[in-house]
Amino acid sequence: MILCRTAAQLEAALARQPKERTLVPTMGGLHAGHLSLIDYARQSPGAVLATVFVNRHQFDDPEDFSNYPRDEEKDFEQLRQAGVDLTYAPDEQAVWGGEAPRLDAFEMPGLTEVLEGQYRPGHLTAVAAVVSRLFDQVEPTAAVFGEKDYQQLVLVRRLAEARQPPVQIIAAPVVREPDGLAMSSRNRRLNSQSRERAAELHRTLEAAAGFVKEGLDVEQVQRQAFEALVELGFEPDYVEVREADFLRPAAASDRELVILAAARLAGVRLLDVVPADRPSPGG
Ligand code: PAF
Repeated sequence: MILCRTAAQLEAALARQPKERTLVPTMGGLHAGHLSLIDYARQSPGAVLATVFVNRHQFDDPEDFSNYPRDEEKDFEQLRQAGVDLTYAPDEQAVWGGEAPRLDAFEMPGLTEVLEGQYRPGHLTAVAAVVSRLFDQVEPTAAVFGEKDYQQLVLVRRLAEARQPPVQIIAAPVVREPDGLAMSSRNRRLNSQSRERAAELHRTLEAAAGFVKEGLDVEQVQRQAFEALVELGFEPDYVEVREADFLRPAAASDRELVILAAARLAGVRLLDVVPADRPSPGG
């Protein structure tokens, strides 16, 4: 595996890589969920590239940024073993060139200020800024993003469509622990008691999805799931049923829906998403 630290090293190394290349952007702290993204990338033709870069601008809480798990050597070893051809692990200078990114240029009304954008202002624009910058530098033909960060996936799809040439976005399903907890680098901050309870987030969303599929009123489903989480000891930010493509509030005619939730458990903020497609009329 080739390891590049600077934009110049990357440019030189890319000249020897195939034009078809699939990128897996990460912030390190790799776990089985990331490795599944790499497996998806390996199914595409050409080279598999990964980035390891902790983007400080997407952390609304500086403590969250400093606590973010960092172990580059372990990450590189895992990427090597997973069959990545080239990893770009730049510093801030290599990514931003000494200038702060213009986050307002990445606002997408209706998307960047809702859900995660409401509770973590600036987070999604900063994700869009760094993904766009990494796309500029790596020039991938495709990129893999996990469905776990579903709003990020929707955002990146829009960003990728608007590029010339467009980047194909490959969505990889959520990877879960045996009890259903969605894998996340943050899970390692849960103590054993809250780790056990954390799986209730997924169970609550699955139950809510069942009610949506049965045709229950979405407002009511959201409210009940929110209250259930509070009773279970979570501090939910939101539980929302949205249409799956653009994350607009679910309308009566929408069939493809997702339920998204963010909730804190013992100070650790967990995200999850489940599909909740309504049966088609007469189907
Ligand atoms: O999902 C992540 O790990 C990050 O948001 C990403 C896409 C690598 C951008 O920093």
